[in-house]
Amino acid sequence: MKVRSYIWILSTASLGGAFLVGILGWWMFQSTNYLTAQYYEASENSGNSAGEYSDVNDFLEVVREIFVSLEIYPANYEGLFGVTRDKLTEAKKGLNDIASKYAKNYSKSTLEPIKEGLDRLSEAIKNYESLSKKNELIKVNQAEKKLNRAREILYKKMDVLEQASLKFHQNSVEALAQKFREVQNKKESDLVILTITSVLYFSLVVTLAFITYKSFASPIRKLEAAAKASIENHRPFNLKETGPFEVRSVTKRLQGLIFGLESTVKKRTASLQAKTVLLEQEINQRKELETQLVHAQKMEAVGQLASGIAHEINSPSQFANDNILFLKDAVTGFIAKIKGNAEAPDEKELNFLAENAPEAVDQAAEGISRITTIVKSMKNFAYKDAGSEKKPNDLNQAIQSTVVVATNEWKYHAEIKLELQESMPFVPCNIGEINQVVLNLVVNGAHAIRDRFGDKQKGLLTINTKYYEDANCVVISITDNGGGIPLNVQSRIFEPFFTTKEVGVGTGQGLAIAHNVIVKSHQGQIWFESKEGEGTTFFIKLPM
Ligand SMILES: Nc1ncnc2c1ncn2[C@@H]1O[C@H](COP(=O)(O)OP(=O)(O)O)[C@@H](O)[C@H]1O
Ligand SMILES: [Mg+2]
Repeated sequence: MKVRSYIWILSTASLGGAFLVGILGWWMFQSTNYLTAQYYEASENSGNSAGEYSDVNDFLEVVREIFVSLEIYPANYEGLFGVTRDKLTEAKKGLNDIASKYAKNYSKSTLEPIKEGLDRLSEAIKNYESLSKKNELIKVNQAEKKLNRAREILYKKMDVLEQASLKFHQNSVEALAQKFREVQNKKESDLVILTITSVLYFSLVVTLAFITYKSFASPIRKLEAAAKASIENHRPFNLKETGPFEVRSVTKRLQGLIFGLESTVKKRTASLQAKTVLLEQEINQRKELETQLVHAQKMEAVGQLASGIAHEINSPSQFANDNILFLKDAVTGFIAKIKGNAEAPDEKELNFLAENAPEAVDQAAEGISRITTIVKSMKNFAYKDAGSEKKPNDLNQAIQSTVVVATNEWKYHAEIKLELQESMPFVPCNIGEINQVVLNLVVNGAHAIRDRFGDKQKGLLTINTKYYEDANCVVISITDNGGGIPLNVQSRIFEPFFTTKEVGVGTGQGLAIAHNVIVKSHQGQIWFESKEGEGTTFFIKLPM
């Protein structure tokens, strides 16, 4: 059903109900009016009957006064007859009035005998009067008897009249009271009916209004709650379509909309996930490339160092070789002497050989040991940890190896001073990467010294290590007394490919890689202090 229909039903029921209540009210008003009119009529009747009753009573009173005066006054009182004559005239007039005014209430059979009675009474009184004047006692007594008889007869007839009049009067009063009660009852019942009808009508309107409200409001509330829950809790929107047509239609549309949104969100999420995977792959590739770059730079350094190292190995190996050759001559001479060969050296030569052989052995051994140190250092230096794994390592030993490997880079321009803290705890690090950083810094220092002094004079490279227990870290510092870093390039030296050196000498990779290794891979810090014309110190801080 549409909202319009609900409103239509509500309005029709309210207006229709109001119309019916109006008709009922009008009908009650009309019937009350009718009854009131009847009441007025009864009241008028009653008034009329009261007039009639009083007229009749007046008449009866006059007649009774005649009777009373006949009894009260003595028979010989002459004035009496004058009074009774007047009263009789008055009574007759009264009777005539009743006959003419109330003919419909009193039939001839009621009034006629009274009239006759009155005539007879006046006759009897007249007779009585004339006889009493003549003083004929016997006749007077007879006339009195006649009078009494006439009076008695009249009396009885009057009773009938009085009864009838009283009855009429009582009936009309009773009818008036009856009408009054009817009007009263009507008013009471009207009030009850009107109250009940009004209550019923208002209940109907309120019920309809409530039903209408429920039919809109509760589906709308449900719809709102479902939409809210769906949006806030990311739940699917499935609500049964209920309520008026419009609300059902909105529910349907929302279902479509939210379903559409959900599928869009799903699609977007899927594409985001795909992109995240790609991004992760790229990050991994980048990390891999960075590691490869560090290693490549190291290999490049090793390449550059190779000729120097070859040179470094060459001298002790030649040195050892020379001594071994001498020892070979000595051994051959001693064997010939023991075998008694003719070409055995003479006593003097043998003495020389015997004197110098031990030293030659020592020197050959030293030469070989030197070579061993270089080879070991190379091995240490070139060591490559798996991935970016960090293991506790002996930093001092690593620095020593690096210095040995790089000997050819510094030895012509500088002296090296190692101030390595003894009892240095092992530091968790990727030692291959740290070696490379130290090598880059040593080579940079050596270059700075060379650039400052050339071949005229040797500079000083100092490498210092220190463990700070409180801060739980180690600091490596590499100091040179080269020319320092000019102020205008200080902010750029860690940039990749930034170099002030000639092509072939510098690649601008050294410090960039050092920064990467220390800051990114080891969560450490690298910084420098430099003074032009005095030298530079690079600091590396590694957490334990
Ligand atoms: N100890 C130093 N003394 C003076 N300048 C330095 C020192 N170390 C680095 N630099 C400057 O920083 C630049 C970048 O160094 P680096 O990244 O190692 O690249 P490269 O050594 O190949 O030039 C150098 O070209 C040089 O100008
Ligand atoms: Mg460099």
